[in-house]
Amino acid sequence: MTMEKLRVGLAGCGGISGVHLSGWDNMHPDCEVVALCDIKEEALKFRGEQYKVPADQWYSDHRDMFEKADIDAVDVCTPNRVHAEISINALKAGKHVICEKPLAPTPDEIRRMIAARDEAGKILMTAQHQRFMRSSQHLKAYIDTGALGEVYYARAHFLRRRFIPGHRAKGKSFICKEYSGGGPCIDIGVHILDLALHFMGYPEPVSVSGITPCKLGKREDIRGWWGEWDRDIMDVEDFAAGFVRFKNGAALSLECSWLLNIREKEYQKITLCGTEAGAEWPQLTVHGETAGSVTDTQLTFPDDRMDGHHVELDAFADAVFDGMPSPVPPEQSLNVQRILDGLYRSYEAGREVEV
Ligand SMILES: NC(=O)c1ccc[n+]([C@@H]2O[C@H](COP(=O)([O-])OP(=O)(O)OC[C@H]3O[C@@H](n4cnc5c(N)ncnc54)[C@H](O)[C@@H]3O)[C@@H](O)[C@H]2O)c1
Repeated sequence: MTMEKLRVGLAGCGGISGVHLSGWDNMHPDCEVVALCDIKEEALKFRGEQYKVPADQWYSDHRDMFEKADIDAVDVCTPNRVHAEISINALKAGKHVICEKPLAPTPDEIRRMIAARDEAGKILMTAQHQRFMRSSQHLKAYIDTGALGEVYYARAHFLRRRFIPGHRAKGKSFICKEYSGGGPCIDIGVHILDLALHFMGYPEPVSVSGITPCKLGKREDIRGWWGEWDRDIMDVEDFAAGFVRFKNGAALSLECSWLLNIREKEYQKITLCGTEAGAEWPQLTVHGETAGSVTDTQLTFPDDRMDGHHVELDAFADAVFDGMPSPVPPEQSLNVQRILDGLYRSYEAGREVEV
């Protein structure tokens, strides 16, 4: 029987849920968020009233929502530490799942999520919205023509000078390992690494060498431009740098930070180096050589101001309606997490480690 409407239950009514709820609200006449879940009553009330979800469909326990609400899919927007538990329970209850990044903070949790997906025969998708930004989609289409040749080296940077997501509203969610699984690696490294690997065609990682220190994050004299955080409870890195080797001989260097003494407030950049040309994201420039002259080309595309988060939800809904595979396969998110986990292990061991 063809599905006529996708009925969604959203878990975790905090910051990012606002972006997802507006996406479901604006983009999908055939999709509707019909139930909400949060352990905090005020968060449920705020989002419930904002998006007119009836109060009898507000749940404080996700298992209750899966049992009682009439839903086909679950949108997981909770802190990282409960992504696996909620997604696995949703899959077991026969629901399709889209889950915020990181899919889970450890490779083992992702393996269990993949097993639950296989058992349920439902879609499990990681919400890597940067893949769905127009700039990413245009560059990916360009790369897929083979115009860069063999991409044998990439740099992936997501660096913030003084933005640490530990201010009061976020509490422990991001700065305590128990809740987040890690610092900027898990928070923003996951975005830039996923996108770089996506551009490279997701080569298989084999080893990682890197450092994941916390040099500024516990210092009282360092300010955060998003507000104060609790230095005493912070137990994650504030910076990471690493070098990844892939089975096909390619390599990638990764840098990410919340706090780092650099000139820029924040910048994100991916550099791809191929045998025929190189390319930069998000600048969308291509660098090569023709007839003895080096060339710099600017790719352009109409700026339709589509939000990557909203396009991502659309892709998830399309996959559910059309019975297609997950637009962001969890197997790829497993590779991201194997690399990040390798970075932490490498820092501890003081040497390169296999992943
Ligand atoms: N894609 C992006 O750009 C992006 C941006 C921000 C956050 N995120 C991700 O979204 C997730 C949430 O981040 P946030 O900034 O919205 O955090 P947040 O702390 O603002 O909100 C999380 C909400 O989940 C609720 N919650 C906690 N445990 C729960 C449980 N067991 N069941 C139901 N609800 C529960 C909390 O009460 C809170 O309201 C994180 O995984 C984060 O990495 C992604």
